[in-house]
Amino acid sequence: MMHGGGFGGGMGGGSMGGGGMGRMGRRLGMDDEGELGSVYNHRVVTRLLSYVLPHKGLAIMSLLTMLVTTFTIVAQPWIIKLAIDELVDTGEQVNAGEQATVGALAFVMVLFAVNMGVRFVSNYMYQVSLARVSQGVLYSLRTRIFGHLQRLSPSFYDRNEVGRIMSRGQNDVNQLQEFLNLVVSSLADVLSLGGIVIALFLLDVQLALITLTVIPVLIGIMLIWQKIAWGTFMRVRQAISVVNANLQENISGIRVVQSLNREETNMERFDEVNNGHLEANLHASRLSAALMPTVEILTAIAIGLVVIFGGRQAINGTMEVSVIVAFVLYVQRFFDPIRNLTMQYTQFQRAMTSGVRIFGLLDTPVEVKDKEDAVDLPPVKGAITLEGIRFHYVPEIEVVKGIDLTIQPGETVAFVGQTGAGKTTLVALLNRFYDVTEGRITIDGYDIRDVTQDSLARQTAM
Ligand SMILES: Nc1ncnc2c1ncn2[C@@H]1O[C@H](COP(=O)(O)OP(=O)(O)OP(=O)(O)O)[C@@H](O)[C@H]1O
Ligand SMILES: [Mg+2]
Repeated sequence: MMHGGGFGGGMGGGSMGGGGMGRMGRRLGMDDEGELGSVYNHRVVTRLLSYVLPHKGLAIMSLLTMLVTTFTIVAQPWIIKLAIDELVDTGEQVNAGEQATVGALAFVMVLFAVNMGVRFVSNYMYQVSLARVSQGVLYSLRTRIFGHLQRLSPSFYDRNEVGRIMSRGQNDVNQLQEFLNLVVSSLADVLSLGGIVIALFLLDVQLALITLTVIPVLIGIMLIWQKIAWGTFMRVRQAISVVNANLQENISGIRVVQSLNREETNMERFDEVNNGHLEANLHASRLSAALMPTVEILTAIAIGLVVIFGGRQAINGTMEVSVIVAFVLYVQRFFDPIRNLTMQYTQFQRAMTSGVRIFGLLDTPVEVKDKEDAVDLPPVKGAITLEGIRFHYVPEIEVVKGIDLTIQPGETVAFVGQTGAGKTTLVALLNRFYDVTEGRITIDGYDIRDVTQDSLARQTAM
C-alpha cells in the first residue's frame, strides 16, 4: 500500500501531547505579553493614522472642540478674577458714597455663564466625536483582524495558541483604541498646562516664578515614580497573561483534566497564579495611591507660597486680592494635567506594544496561497499521485520522508500506522493545508499548488 520511504516517527513515538505543542508554539509564535516597548513607534503611528483617515472630519472636529474646551477651562479663573475686581470696584464706589453701578459685574456674570455653556457643548462634542473616531478605528481593526485570521494557514495556528490570538483581537485592539484617546487627552493636558503658565505670568511675573519653584520637585518625583511604576505595571500585565494562559489551557484540556483527576492539582496551580495577579495589582494600586497625596501636598505648598508672598504684597497694596484668588485657582488646576501625563506614559507604551503586535499579526503572511496564474481544478476523476513528497512542521523534524504513491480513480486507499506516524498529516497535505517541502502532489495530473484553493477545497474533504 505504501511505497517509498515511509513515515517518520516524528517527535519520539509521536505522542501529540497538547502541552508539548503548546510550548513549541510559544517559542516559535508571537512575542510575550507583558513587555513594554518604546513610547513612540513611528510605524505603528502611521499605520494607525491610516485607520483614522476615513474619519478625518470627526477627528478634526474632536481636536477643535478639545481646544475650545481647554480654553474655557483656562479662562474660568480669569473670569472669576474679573468678577472680584468688579466687586472690589463697586465696594470702593459705595464706600466713597458714589452711585454704584453693577453693569460691569453683570457683564462678567454673563461671561461666566457663557463660558460654562460653551464648555458644556464643546466638551460634549469633543467626547462624542472622539468616541466615534476611536470606535470606528476599533471596528475596522477588528474586521481586518478577523478577515486575516480566516485566511491564515493552519501552520500559523500551530505556532500560536488560541488564547494569544484572542488576546490580539480583544486586549490589544482595545489598547490601541485607547491610544487615540490618550493622544488627544495628553494634547489637552499639555495645552492647559501651557495656558495656565501663560495666565500665571500675565497675572504676576514674580509670583508666577515663586509658585513654579515647586515644579522641578514635582518633575523629580514624577520621574522616580515613573521608574518604579514601569516595573510594577509590567508585572501586572505579565500576571494577567499567565492567568489567562492557565485558564485557556485548562478549558481546552478539560477532558484530560477530568479523566486524570487533575482538578485539585490544577486548582492549586491556578490559585497560585491568580494570587500572583492579585499581589501585582495590589502593589500597583498602592503605587498609584501614593502619587495622589504627594501631588496634593505639592499643590498645598504652592498655594501656601502664593498666599504668603501674594498676601504680603496685598497687605502692602501692591497686589490685587483678585490676582491671589486667580493664582490659587490656577495652581489647583495646574497639577492635574501633570499627574495625568505621568500616568498616561505607561499607557502610551502599552498602546504602542499592542500596536506592534496587531500590525505584526496583520502582516503575517499567508503561507499557503494561490499562485498568480492558478486555474480552477476541473471536476475531478480522482487520479492522485504523490511524487517523492517530504514534509516537516518543525524544521529538522521531518514527518513525511519521501513517499511515492499512485491512486487510480475509484480506488480506495487506507493509511494504516501507529499514532503519530503521519496519517493525518498526509491527508492535510492532500487538502493543501500545508505545502509539501519537497516533491509534488497531483490530482488528475494537476499539481495542487497550481490550482485555486477554492476549487480544490470544493472537491476534497477532510
Ligand atoms: N501541527 C503540528 N506541528 C508540529 N508537529 C506536528 C503537528 N501535527 C502533527 N505533528 C507531528 O507530526 C507527526 C505526525 O502526526 P500525525 O497527526 O500526522 O499522525 P497520525 O498518524 O495522524 O497520528 P494519530 O494516529 O495519532 O492520529 C507526529 O510526530 C506529530 O507529533
Ligand atoms: Mg491522526
